[in-house]
Amino acid sequence: MIINMKIHLQIALVACLSACTALQAAGDSPVDFVKQIKPILADRCVECHNSETLLGELNLQTRALAFEKRKTGPVIVPKNAEKSMLYLVLTLPAKDKKAMPATGHRIPKDEVSTIRQWITEGASWPEGEDGVITPKHKKAGK
Ligand code: HEC
Repeated sequence: MIINMKIHLQIALVACLSACTALQAAGDSPVDFVKQIKPILADRCVECHNSETLLGELNLQTRALAFEKRKTGPVIVPKNAEKSMLYLVLTLPAKDKKAMPATGHRIPKDEVSTIRQWITEGASWPEGEDGVITPKHKKAGK
């Protein structure tokens, strides 16, 4: 009987842990571009999408560049993640040619929801230094 209760407690704890993390991810505070979005783009996207390596003819180094008009449709539609390629490519099945990042592991689900939330909130992306993304390997001076 005691063993049984222990197991139940454990199950309850695990259930709470995952629910609580999910709640945190969907938290009320607005997404901070510099703290939450910039690191993801810097680590996983800008290495292929910068002024020198312009894969898919897409540069994600600044807001102005990311918002440039494209034949295939807009990269970011503020307040509408479902129309934003930047979000959609993260949700495509890995086998899809357009699934991003094109190499390496997928972006973790909680980070994908952060990006979704950021777009839904209007995709604020500051001008100036704070809004400029440099590929990570270049910062290290390699
Ligand atoms: C290893 C290189 C590489 C990485 C890393 C990478 N991409 Fe791409 N990306 C590409 C290539 C290649 C294309 C062109 C694919 C095509 O059109 O078939 C592309 C195209 C795109 C497009 C345009 C799709 C279209 O139809 O116009 C978007 C949006 C995009 N990538 C977003 C991202 C995001 C967001 C990340 C980071 C999570 C990322 N990419 C990481 C190589 C990469």
